Amino acid sequence: MIIISGSNSQNLAYRVSKLTNSELLRTEFKKFPDGELYIRIHGDVKNRDVFLIQTQNNQNDSIVETILMCDVLRDEGAKSINLVAPYLAYARQDKKFNDGEPISIRALAKLYSNLCDKLITINPHEVHIEAFFDIPFIHGNAVNKLAEYAKDKLNNPVVLSPDKGAIELAKTASEVLDCEYDYLEKTRISPTEIKIAPKNLDVKDRDILIVDDIISTGGTMAKAIAMLKEQGAKKVIASCVHPVLIGDALNKLYIGGADEVIGTDTYPSEVSKISVDTVIADLIKF
Ligand code: R5P
Repeated sequence: MIIISGSNSQNLAYRVSKLTNSELLRTEFKKFPDGELYIRIHGDVKNRDVFLIQTQNNQNDSIVETILMCDVLRDEGAKSINLVAPYLAYARQDKKFNDGEPISIRALAKLYSNLCDKLITINPHEVHIEAFFDIPFIHGNAVNKLAEYAKDKLNNPVVLSPDKGAIELAKTASEVLDCEYDYLEKTRISPTEIKIAPKNLDVKDRDILIVDDIISTGGTMAKAIAMLKEQGAKKVIASCVHPVLIGDALNKLYIGGADEVIGTDTYPSEVSKISVDTVIADLIKF
C-alpha cells in the first residue's frame, strides 16, 4: 500500500502513512501563472494499491488536482486507486432544490466512479449520496474524536445536536462522554421571534457539547449557543467535523457565547484541533 498526498492534506497524509506503516511518495504541486495546476508524482506506483489523500476544502482546485492525480496513477499502472476525500466538496447539493439545478454531487460521483476504484470520506452531509457512486463509497465518523477532545473540559455535560436530523451525532458523542443527549428544537413564538431549546432536557447549570457535521456561516450554531446561554447553560463547546467557517463565522460563534469552538483537519482551519488520522487509518487498513 502506498500513500500519496494531495496539496491540501500533506500533514494528514504523513500521519496516516505512519499509522499504517506505509510508504509516502513525494508529490509536486505547482500553479501556473494563469491558474492552471501542475502535479507530478515521484516514485513507482506500478501494481501497488494507492491511497490518494486529498481533502476538498478549496473545492474546484482540489477537484481538478484529484482528476490529474488519478489520471497519472492509472497511466502509471497503479493496481487500485483509492481516493480519500475527508471533506467531500459539493456534497450539500445532493438534490434539486429548484428546477434547473444540477445534483452536483451526483455529477461528481460519476466522475470519481470513472477515475478511481473506491472513495473514502468522513461524515458526509447525507449518506444517501452513496447511491450516486458506482464504486464502493466508504464513510467514517469522526464525532467520537470531537467528544474525546472535549471530555476533560466539561462537567455534568449534555450533548446536543442542532436539529433532529443530526441526533445520531449527538448519540455517538454522548456514548463517549457517558451522558444524556438531545436535539435542539426551533419553535416560532411570533412572526419575528423564534425559540431554540433542547426538546427534552433542561440545560440550566450544565456544560454543553453541541455537535454538527459542518459549521459553514455559523448562523445555526451562533443562534443556538446564545439561546442556551440565556437558558442558563454554564459552558458551551461548539464542535463540528468540517469547520468550513466562512467569513466571520468564528467571530459570530464567540460573540454568541461559545467558550470554545473545535473541529477536525478534514477542513484545515484555525479550530482544526483534532485529526481524523486514526479514523482514516482504520478505514484503509481493514
Ligand atoms: C445542516 O443540515 C448542517 O448540518 C449544518 O447545521 C448547516 O449546514 C450549518 O450551516 P451554517 O453554519 O451556515 O448555519
